[in-house]
Amino acid sequence: MKLYNFPALLQLAKARNYKALGSFNLHCLEMLPAYFRAAQRADSPLMIQISTGTAEYLGYQLLVDAVSSLAASEQIPTCLHLDHCSDPRAIRTAIDAGFSSVMYDGSHLNIDENIANTRLVIEMARPRGVSVEAELGAIGGAEDGKMVAAEDISFTTVADAKRFVDETGVDMLAVSVGTVHGLYTGKAQIQHQRLMEITAATATPLVLHGGTGVSDDDMRRAVSGGIDKVNVGTEMNVQWVGRCKETFEKGKVSDSVRKFLIPANEAVTNVLTEKMNLFR
Ligand code: 13P
Repeated sequence: MKLYNFPALLQLAKARNYKALGSFNLHCLEMLPAYFRAAQRADSPLMIQISTGTAEYLGYQLLVDAVSSLAASEQIPTCLHLDHCSDPRAIRTAIDAGFSSVMYDGSHLNIDENIANTRLVIEMARPRGVSVEAELGAIGGAEDGKMVAAEDISFTTVADAKRFVDETGVDMLAVSVGTVHGLYTGKAQIQHQRLMEITAATATPLVLHGGTGVSDDDMRRAVSGGIDKVNVGTEMNVQWVGRCKETFEKGKVSDSVRKFLIPANEAVTNVLTEKMNLFR
């Protein structure tokens, strides 16, 4: 089955009464069946995103082949998205391998450079039917080993967001409105008013990063306030590693490794199903 790009998958999700798409980081290949099982349980289209670290670890082509094969056998409309990538060569590798969506992350650059580079990535991706996400403002926390400290967080302004989407025509824009990547030490402080103002000023789908640890209420409010894609990453890692710690600890080295991994995958399926149902 051909993989969907983001706008096509969003359209399909909306036709099935989803208000937004969850986009879920895959941390290792062993977890992959759990994502499809959750999509089946929730009767949801599926968006899987891959950090560049995971793509380098597993191989771009292996990921495309494995995800396409499961999408076909399970009959789940699926988008495979490269998460946070600031290297255009890695983006090209992903597109050539068959990823259906990519994120160019130029959030560390000034807005002029971010716009110029995003346009180059769009020129590369759009003729291949691949959607492009960009990011404006700096989201705090650690993502794929890169840390943005609290003092370096910068929130997306309405004027910059409008200029950015007008000048790039990007398919979706990640905004910095108070969430952080990774585990929260307190409650997420989402700036719902800022988000609504950005939504009113732009017609482009908006992305909320740092979905782990955001309360269900905040998540629903953010979606009502204009978010179309919600990234959740750390949560699945926490579930999987947490269960593995228990099962590996209790088991014997001669036990089939499946015995250790099946409960971990069940935990991931459960959390993914919950999140998918939240966006309905
Ligand atoms: P969390 O790991 O905080 O859920 O964030 C994921 C993310 O935004 C990936 O881009």
